[in-house]
Amino acid sequence: MNQAAPITKATSDLGRHVLDGLGRTPKRLSSMYFYDDRGSELFQQIMALPEYYPTRTEFALLTTHRAAIGEALRPATGEPFFLLELGAGDGLKTKILLRYLLDSGARFTYVPVDISAAALEGLTASLRAELPGLQVEPVVADYTAALALMAARPGRKAVLFLGSNIGNFLPPDRLAFLRQLTGPLTADDRLLIGFDLQKNPRVIRAAYDDAAGVTAAFNLNLLARLNQELGADFDLDQWQHYTDYDPLSGAVRSFVVSARAQTVRFAALDLSVDFAAWEVIHTENSYKFTGPGIADLAAEAGLRVEHFFTDEQAYFADVVLAPLA
Ligand code: AVJ
Repeated sequence: MNQAAPITKATSDLGRHVLDGLGRTPKRLSSMYFYDDRGSELFQQIMALPEYYPTRTEFALLTTHRAAIGEALRPATGEPFFLLELGAGDGLKTKILLRYLLDSGARFTYVPVDISAAALEGLTASLRAELPGLQVEPVVADYTAALALMAARPGRKAVLFLGSNIGNFLPPDRLAFLRQLTGPLTADDRLLIGFDLQKNPRVIRAAYDDAAGVTAAFNLNLLARLNQELGADFDLDQWQHYTDYDPLSGAVRSFVVSARAQTVRFAALDLSVDFAAWEVIHTENSYKFTGPGIADLAAEAGLRVEHFFTDEQAYFADVVLAPLA
């Protein structure tokens, strides 16, 4: 039986989101709610899957190009700067760059930004142990608030947004987000953004539908979270993971599919939602990009592509962007 969870601020944000998203046609929920403790653990497992190429590809490309990327981000004058990172995660990829910058005598403060204080505490502790010379100033805030805050402080900024998290935005939201990031930047500031690139569609599709079923568990965990936090009664045996890749739009779209007609009750919301047989809830977008598409996006946001770093297979790109003069 379900227990109604206590209504906290986080729960009520989630509750409002469910009321909105499951009230729409077609129904949808945001992938931003995947990352509870279990979801974060499953994402760690995804990053180690043979089919899930993005993380290890970006890691390898940052390792190969760390010097060129480091030089592109730090001010040529040698003056101190801020290195901001939006959504640092476990920092495994960033440490490559941090280590290079420290070893080459750069003077900078690393500012990891996340809405989760717990995630930032873990990252900061591991950085203090592994890179004792590093100056770290974590900021618990949403991305745009953190950027506005940092813009008020004198000094150059380089902003990292790695991991192709930009792929989660729908195209209009993506542009709005990039414009918000660009707004507070001055001519000498830089952005480094990770983009997963369009490639053999079968390779992309497999990355979101792995043989071991970890991505399926990750997607369906969203329903388990609603059971826990909103007292919902999703029967997970009656839901399936489904994903497709559309090479025309570059969109991977993920869904949970109702395997029969059913009604789900949300105790904490005093809400019942009907699902038809094979009706879907759209849970995630993971867009894939092309070089020209990235250049167009940059121009629309008031940026230009200064450097385009990619791997041998051209699977992934880390792109240095500068404000248009
Ligand atoms: C963390 C958003 C980059 O879209 O590839 C992995 C999340 N979803 N497998 C992605 C994810 C399904 C991932 N990002």
